[in-house]
Amino acid sequence: MTYAIQAEGLIKRYGDKAALDGVDLEVPAGKVMGVLGPNGAGKTTTVRILATLLRPDGGRATVGGHDVLKDPVRVRTLIGLTGQYASVDESLSGVENLILLGRLLNLSKRQARARAAELLERFELTDAATRPISTFSGGMRRRLDLAASLVGRPQVLFLDEPTTGLDPHTRNELWEIVRGLVADGSTVLLTTQYLEEADQLADRITVIDHGRVVAEGTPGELKRRIGGQILHVRPTVTADADAVARMLGDLTGARPAADPNTGLLTVPAADPMLISALVRRLDLAGITADELGLRLPSLDEVFLALTGQKNDITERTAA
Ligand SMILES: Nc1ncnc2c1ncn2[C@@H]1O[C@H](COP(=O)(O)OP(=O)(O)O)[C@@H](O)[C@H]1O
Ligand SMILES: [Mg+2]
Repeated sequence: MTYAIQAEGLIKRYGDKAALDGVDLEVPAGKVMGVLGPNGAGKTTTVRILATLLRPDGGRATVGGHDVLKDPVRVRTLIGLTGQYASVDESLSGVENLILLGRLLNLSKRQARARAAELLERFELTDAATRPISTFSGGMRRRLDLAASLVGRPQVLFLDEPTTGLDPHTRNELWEIVRGLVADGSTVLLTTQYLEEADQLADRITVIDHGRVVAEGTPGELKRRIGGQILHVRPTVTADADAVARMLGDLTGARPAADPNTGLLTVPAADPMLISALVRRLDLAGITADELGLRLPSLDEVFLALTGQKNDITERTAA
């Protein structure tokens, strides 16, 4: 396996407080790593160290095989960074910003102009290209930010909370762009507080909390880690709910949860064979169901089990 990013025992202290307390991270080339954690967990600190913007107090890290401390200039030629630290100049237009960046990256005038046009087209910003950035909407800004980070064709892209504060539509657009970049061979490290985003986009997830890695794996592995599955059933006739709840209780020895709004009954099920037993019982009782199955716990349930805190950011605010 080739790793685009490898970090071992990263430590960063501010006064006597450890922002990072020994973070290990391995990101396979060409994959999306989601770094998930609550506010203050150490996500941005990790990204800034890997992007050579901040020196760690301990540990080591390589990006594209190059040491971030010994060879930062080389690392910078490989990476793009976007997120909480916007890199664009407010007083310039979109196209001016991208050309400026191209020139800073040693492209010729012609190359810089061509690259700017190509990126504006790809991010559907062509119409807005000549307007000052200060007139851009939140979603347009975020797209331009991402375009700016791609001028140098980075192999490794750091996206620090790229969709925080975006409305669901713009967020979906951004996800599509990230998927496209990965299809083209880029490696992406994406930090997020949104579990759904990690679930949708990441090949692997590293959960960090208080500057430490508390779990790592594919979304499926993390969900399986907290054990068992959830059996869910919705009787066709609402009046059958009590009878079905009794059957579930008998079969699992646990008390099923009932959602009065959806009519859905759920119960943890350690044994997948329970489902055929339930089907036989329902059949005998002449009860039909609109929905019946097993599912893994949600990432929300995983996050709660791992960090002991509910992910409080479930609602998005419009940009
Ligand atoms: N420049 C700084 N000075 C002091 N403390 C900092 C500084 N930057 C980050 N921290 C602290 O380090 C911890 C991790 O911060 P950060 O990496 O920004 O978390 P996240 O991005 O996960 O929200 C937080 O407790 C934060 O307050
Ligand atoms: Mg942050």
